[in-house]
Amino acid sequence: MAHYMRSERLYHVMLPQQFEEALMERLFDTADLIKEITRKSNGSGFLKSVLQHKKAMLYFTQPSTRTFLSFLGACQLVGMDTAEVRDPSLSSEYKGESQEDGVRVFSSYFDCIVMRDPKPGFCEYMAYLLDTTGRSVPILNGGSGKDQHPTQALLDLYTMHRSFLSRGGIRKKRYAFVGDLLRGRAVRSVVFLLSQYQDLEFHFVAPDAFQIAPDLEDHLKTLGISHHLSEDLESVLPEMDCVYMTRLQDEYDLSGESQLVDYSRYSLDLGKVKNMKPESIILHPLPRRDEIHPEVDADPRAMYWRQLRNGMYLRAALLLHVFGAAHRLQEY
Ligand code: NCD
Repeated sequence: MAHYMRSERLYHVMLPQQFEEALMERLFDTADLIKEITRKSNGSGFLKSVLQHKKAMLYFTQPSTRTFLSFLGACQLVGMDTAEVRDPSLSSEYKGESQEDGVRVFSSYFDCIVMRDPKPGFCEYMAYLLDTTGRSVPILNGGSGKDQHPTQALLDLYTMHRSFLSRGGIRKKRYAFVGDLLRGRAVRSVVFLLSQYQDLEFHFVAPDAFQIAPDLEDHLKTLGISHHLSEDLESVLPEMDCVYMTRLQDEYDLSGESQLVDYSRYSLDLGKVKNMKPESIILHPLPRRDEIHPEVDADPRAMYWRQLRNGMYLRAALLLHVFGAAHRLQEY
């Protein structure tokens, strides 16, 4: 993890395991401040001056709406210029250039690279390569295969933190994760991040074929964190403080394995939500399919639209920390 920091400052944003509670608290405070400043007159003008000398490359070779747009929005909030490659067939990769050389080109022109790629570990590999043989710039992992999605996890925890502010925060709560937990990288990253908090209880509700991966369960066992595996959503719902829904990740199917499960059992409608605690919250990294009926959107427990908006502020906070500029908010 030390490799991803520079003199105790955040540098590469790579894995949830590199974020300790104290660092997260600082990020959450910065995100709160950014949000507050944007609401003030001339606030957005001030924010735009903070990183106007920095440029970001958004390299997204796997489909994305929210992560791409919220990073773009975050860069715009803090005044960074951006460029993007989303379709490698329009870049020199089409002419046979390796991805390694392509990323090296970005590092020559830009001050950081936000990267999403279908290959697990690709961002880590590129960070290592640039650090050892190229021009090192911070790499922010915007989702690497089935593996990790650290900025999604951070914005999820930011939303939990804000939602539970008057109830003792993230600690001492019961969390349910529902759906395709084997291939959903968001859940993997959130669980890694949450597992450093005390007195949590995890419930993993998934079809047997898509239960959490053995390494994640081993991680929880090693830490002695209470966790339960189940296939029955309705029996779990009434006890939960947070229910984290996910979609079926069938783009990772090797031979149609998604067709073999009845995913409707892992969905929420108003009838089921009625059995949840009144002050509990429902999260979803989005995009959704049928796992949350739109009629749930108006329920005060539905937090997923707020969650995605929080993502832009949290990502702007990350950029300020990576470039050592968070303290400048005090000038405002
Ligand atoms: C998630 C992802 O890409 O892993 N989406 C996102 O970034 N908000 C979840 C998903 O695609 O299901």
